[in-house]
Amino acid sequence: MKASGLGPRASVEWLACITCGRRFDIDEIRYTCDCGGLLSVERDELPKSTRIFDERLNRGPRPEARGLNQSGVWRFREAVLSIPESEIITHPEGATRLYERNGLLFKHEGENPTGSFKDRGMTVAITQAVRLGARAVACASTGNTSASLAAYAAQAGLRAIVFVPAGRVAGGKLAQTLAYGATCLQIRGDFDTAMRLVREASERLGIYLVNSINPFRIEGQKTIVWELLQDLDWHAPDWIVVPAGNLGNTSAFGKALKEAREAGWIDKTPRLASIQASGANPFYRSFRDQFSGRHRVTAETIASAIRIGDPVSHDRAVAAIRYTGGVVEQVTDDEIMTAKRDIDAMGIGCEPASAATLAGVRKLRAAGVIRDRESIVCVLTGHLLKDADAIMKSHAGRSIEIDATIEAVEKALTVSR
Ligand code: F0G
Repeated sequence: MKASGLGPRASVEWLACITCGRRFDIDEIRYTCDCGGLLSVERDELPKSTRIFDERLNRGPRPEARGLNQSGVWRFREAVLSIPESEIITHPEGATRLYERNGLLFKHEGENPTGSFKDRGMTVAITQAVRLGARAVACASTGNTSASLAAYAAQAGLRAIVFVPAGRVAGGKLAQTLAYGATCLQIRGDFDTAMRLVREASERLGIYLVNSINPFRIEGQKTIVWELLQDLDWHAPDWIVVPAGNLGNTSAFGKALKEAREAGWIDKTPRLASIQASGANPFYRSFRDQFSGRHRVTAETIASAIRIGDPVSHDRAVAAIRYTGGVVEQVTDDEIMTAKRDIDAMGIGCEPASAATLAGVRKLRAAGVIRDRESIVCVLTGHLLKDADAIMKSHAGRSIEIDATIEAVEKALTVSR
């Protein structure tokens, strides 16, 4: 990889340690500071108004303005990554819909090209990987990151290597990963074991790591929040609710809200609610202890995407919850699957982990933390078809094999309603 001697960037960006503040060159290949702290991409200034972003929406007869602006990530490019437009690897991604159902808003990130929000971070991380001259990229994954990595690496012509917990990834995600051409290492262990191994392997083998420990992923994922704020004409909701696993999204949302507020794009800061499965709840435990210590657990939940016991972005996510006056909640697998059935029955649908949002809203409302009139955006992180098995198990009774006769049809329809 060519980490030095790259041309100057159009505006000044650098990497900063979130723990000790030490700065590094934006093109230095590193994921943590010498002190162990996580890194963050920082820049001198952001656009003072959202006008430049709003003008780029594909409204009106201005086809010449499309191109990069079709991407809900690169529409915000001045605040994402400073890089010549010709070097950007974009599908495009983002530009997902905001649905209103039963008084709640759902930002459906399952509408991204590979069916999850991961594409927003991946377009930026793979763009940076190519800039650095990487030949191979890797991640550990519960499935969605690997599908996204495989797709963007295929587009960029890079070798993709994914580390997944053996036998524990939903079928749709694994199929995508293989179809896009990645090498899939089925690690005998859980996600957290795979994560430790990929960090060691990328260090030793010189492979560029694109898990959300990579600060460029965070820069892309910020745009989930900016785009939903833009969808709302920059009238901030009271709450943004997100499922929490490895804590990349929680971190990205906190950074997005801080930057939007400091640049004056919004005049109030929504509170973040990060929702964990109760069987994979290390961040909830830390929150309950007022973040006085860090917890690690052995994770188990039906929501395989968030089956994570030792989240890498813990420290960034703590800052996000603190900055937004946010909360962390936990929900059971039953609560998740009930909420999933309800989201599916709205005709929207999502994978189990995404439904933790609605389950979390219900619990936080019942506890009086979220009040009746407060406006809420739930971020649905993954598409319904990612995990078909979870659906087939919970709806088995409504799939009925019958003889090919009209009598059998009539009988089946009276029995099952
Ligand atoms: N929802 C879905 C559908 C996910 O795939 C993930 C994470 C999350 C929520 C949690 O987001 O990690 O930023 O807190 N999936 C990762 C993966 C771990 O490998 O696909 P997070």
